[in-house]
Amino acid sequence: MFLLNSFVVLSVLLGVSCEKPLGRRATVPVIYVQGSHYDVGYDVGRTFSSVIKSFISSYENLRDFEKEYKTDTGRNAYDKTLTNMRKKFPYYVKEIQGVADGAGVPFYQLFLLQMDDLIGNVNDNHIPRNDTGGCSSMAFKNPHATLLGHTEDAFHETLNHFYIMSAHIIPTPEDREAGAVEERFASLCYAGHMPGYTMGYNQNGLVFSINTLSPLILKHGNTPRTFLTRAMLSAKNFSQAEQILRDEGLGIGNGFSVNMIWTNNWGDRQIYNVEVSPDLKADRSHLNIQKYDKDLLVHCNKYQRTNVTEVTGPIIDSSVERLQVIHGYPKPRDRSDLAQILSDTTGKNFRVFADRPDDIIMTIAAGIFDLDKRTWSIYINKPKLSEPVAVLPITFSCLDY
Ligand SMILES: *[C@@H]1O[C@H](CO)[C@@H](O)[C@H](O)[C@H]1NC(C)=O
Ligand SMILES: *[C@@H]1O[C@H](CO)[C@@H](O)[C@H](O)[C@H]1NC(C)=O
Ligand SMILES: *[C@@H]1O[C@H](CO)[C@@H](O)[C@H](O)[C@H]1NC(C)=O
Repeated sequence: MFLLNSFVVLSVLLGVSCEKPLGRRATVPVIYVQGSHYDVGYDVGRTFSSVIKSFISSYENLRDFEKEYKTDTGRNAYDKTLTNMRKKFPYYVKEIQGVADGAGVPFYQLFLLQMDDLIGNVNDNHIPRNDTGGCSSMAFKNPHATLLGHTEDAFHETLNHFYIMSAHIIPTPEDREAGAVEERFASLCYAGHMPGYTMGYNQNGLVFSINTLSPLILKHGNTPRTFLTRAMLSAKNFSQAEQILRDEGLGIGNGFSVNMIWTNNWGDRQIYNVEVSPDLKADRSHLNIQKYDKDLLVHCNKYQRTNVTEVTGPIIDSSVERLQVIHGYPKPRDRSDLAQILSDTTGKNFRVFADRPDDIIMTIAAGIFDLDKRTWSIYINKPKLSEPVAVLPITFSCLDY
């Protein structure tokens, strides 16, 4: 009797104190939204308030960012960045304000998320660094297929904390005056973050995916990469995208690479990878552009062509291991070859598809863009073994063909 009672008491205690683990939710929330930058942000924030709040309260890195923000150097970097962004991209700052107001969270927390390593390392440029590296991207075209495949990898707290935003932005007259243009795009967003720094497409023929890169020397106060990838969503063609990334007059503060497939009015397709890094000698970003024709584009979280000193740590070790695994396969020719590589888990320490429960960096989703079918398939589990949870149309509404 006594034993039984203790057992019951214990179970009740356990039941109360242990939250059921969420696991890997097979869901891809999508919001279709239209309006000014602020209104679009507001509706995203309002709709995903609970996901955003849950992310903000659980994201360990944000605790570090807040600690840095409380120091003088941190606060100065924050203020300088915000002043610069209010001058350069006032309408994107309003979009973030909209998300904050809609979700009921403080603006500064969302702005810290955008600053990322530009606030995290402002006082102590320590290495090795635990940076956000994990995304693997591959793109190719041949007479039968044009495909971009991408694993969206992020800190494990981001699992189940993302959504897709399919937006039609109609700028206010004031924002138009400041340089804003009408935009139509769809992008995956980490909770509370701007669209653009993950994967998606825009109406002008651009399909893209992003890889975080980690230069050792950052330019604090300069443009955070997420503002450039947000602005890239408005690009009409490759040369305009290049101009946006170059960010003449200020320049990026941190690093990333973008994989792009541009489709033009005649249905031709061009594949590019652009490595973006801080230019330590001039007020602009440094770009290294590579165009691919017959070759396979492969990019992880390590600079391939830019002469820049990077951090050391898991982001680099993981990239080296994933690149080795990917290049160990015969060149993919179709969608099933691509799905196979994206699903690879043979890496000893780091995997292309990272889904072990104790991985620090986890694959939160994988995407396959099929330019012939004009579809964007989003998988939560391995693309080789599962059906996509969502298949979104790629709508190039500005192209004639
Ligand atoms: C990096 O991650 C490892 C493993 O979780 C942890 O032990 C270490 O403290 C982290 N280092 C930094 C600088 O955050
Ligand atoms: C790219 O788009 C811009 C803006 O619409 C335009 O001015 C430029 O001529 C275009 N460039 C090319 C090469 O099509
Ligand atoms: C790379 O940069 C370093 C330092 O700026 C320089 O000494 C070196 O010659 C450069 N290497 C190449 C291949 O450009």
